[in-house]
Amino acid sequence: MARILITSALPYINGIKHLGNLVGSQLPADLYARYCRARGHEVMFICATDEHGTPAELAAAKTGEPVADYCARMHQVQTDLAHGFRLSFDHYGRSSSPQNHRLTQHFAGRLRAAGLIAEVSEKQVYSPADGRFLPDRYIEGTCPNCGYERARGDQCENCTKQLDPTDLINPRSAISGATDLEVRETKHLYLRQSLMRDQLDRWLDSQTGWPILTTSIAKKWLHDGDGLRDRGITRDLDWGIPVKDGENDWPGMEGKVFYVWFDAPIEYIAATAEWAEAQGKDDAAWRRWWRTDEGADDVRYVQFMGKDNVPFHTLSFPATLMGSGEPWKLVDYIKSFNYLNYDGGQFSTSQGRGVFMDQALDLLPSDYWRWWLLSHAPESNDSEFTWENFQASVNKDLADVLGNFVSRVTKFCRSKFDEAVPEGGTWGDREKALEQALATRIAAYDRQMAAMEIRKSAAELRAIWVLGNEYLQEAAPWATFKTDPEAAAMQVRLALNLIRLYAVLSRPFIPDAAWSMMAALESEDWTWPEDVRAALTTLPAGHAFTVPEVLFAKITDDAREDWAARFAGARD
Ligand code: 2FM
Ligand code: ZN
Repeated sequence: MARILITSALPYINGIKHLGNLVGSQLPADLYARYCRARGHEVMFICATDEHGTPAELAAAKTGEPVADYCARMHQVQTDLAHGFRLSFDHYGRSSSPQNHRLTQHFAGRLRAAGLIAEVSEKQVYSPADGRFLPDRYIEGTCPNCGYERARGDQCENCTKQLDPTDLINPRSAISGATDLEVRETKHLYLRQSLMRDQLDRWLDSQTGWPILTTSIAKKWLHDGDGLRDRGITRDLDWGIPVKDGENDWPGMEGKVFYVWFDAPIEYIAATAEWAEAQGKDDAAWRRWWRTDEGADDVRYVQFMGKDNVPFHTLSFPATLMGSGEPWKLVDYIKSFNYLNYDGGQFSTSQGRGVFMDQALDLLPSDYWRWWLLSHAPESNDSEFTWENFQASVNKDLADVLGNFVSRVTKFCRSKFDEAVPEGGTWGDREKALEQALATRIAAYDRQMAAMEIRKSAAELRAIWVLGNEYLQEAAPWATFKTDPEAAAMQVRLALNLIRLYAVLSRPFIPDAAWSMMAALESEDWTWPEDVRAALTTLPAGHAFTVPEVLFAKITDDAREDWAARFAGARD
């Protein structure tokens, strides 16, 4: 048994996330967490809302709420949606928590003591029309790297380049649209991460087997780009973590807060501390996940995120942890994702384009979405959501292949035998061949899941479902029954056991359907099938079951057309 720490990139607090956000970190992280638990590992799965910075301030300003109230309300909304999608976080924290205030100020103090913070008098964009300095996201303009016209002051979402607001071409205020921007003098703290280039380079080189997407982005910004340029870690905002040196004031920094990207990753640690508090546990309980001198040296730490988050997790956050000079746990593996597009364009929060988490759950139960999203995860390339593809995948994979198998087997057994596993004779060659084929496929599924190869895992799982259908088709117990009821009973006994096995294997992908299958089989045996023979004989003759409700309803052409039309425009 291993100890596995899993974090998903923290969703911004401003508004409900779309399906592209969901499949870019939280959902695959959940799949992996569920798989690791199923394999008996001790798992700590952490996520939180990312509550500071300009996105939160701008969104609160729009609704007219005080920003703290807005964040509290939206945290609850996002928590409920996470439950709706069955995201199995051990803790869903808030980056505005007291724990994160303390830890962020602690790290700043340590970095200062290590000579890694510079106080820099700098020129910053000031908007007379808005009567304030405009940090990062309050400014939009053209990316100097790729020419994208809606780049934000902190990063270009098109080419992932990290930017400073003054880099933008034709900058404008995101609040008022004003272009009469001035540059004024103000003092800020900079993290001198350039001093850590060699240390970061050595660390990145020592990480083997990371996905190409992750390493290529990290190396690009470490070597060719200026990703390691010293970066400002403070902002002139009201909402955020006040700049302090540990518990002490920081003269000259009054009224300033830390930059959201400085405190957000620290929240991974803080959220684990929030978890400990919520569980009534002491500090040692969370520190054993994060401090290598207090037990975390045997933890494997895996992070999930979209590709635009990679530079922060491969450079800035490790620089914070290493620079502190304290033995904090560094990430062991970063699983990053490309983008999911929506029907010929991009999902867009600002433009309300695509399907958002609340809307998805209003249409269909979470398993339908989980299956489609995970089996089409944008791993090696961007991928695209279309309603046709969604309909085809639900109807074929879930309804025809899995659902139909479960329904045929249970109904046939009830009609010809009873609502109990029938006795029947011993296995023949066909059953042994099925066992062999299953063993091979399950081993492959296990390997792909352990490697976080999500699409390949889905393909293996589907192939395992198909094996059951092929077996049923060939064995044809409804025909066998006429001439050899004993043999038919044996075939049905095997098929019923297969349903329980499907529940175990499918649970990380479609937890609700898995639960329904297991409940119908009146079993609670979720043991992972390391021994396939044992798994296929778990339910003995005479074991009672019930015929479950239809597991997956097919999506009709009418429904598909209706939804496609309904989601063609922007959300209100
Ligand atoms: O890009 C985003 O959605 C950020 N809110 C991710 C933060 S991840 C972490 F570092 F907190
Ligand atoms: Zn760009």
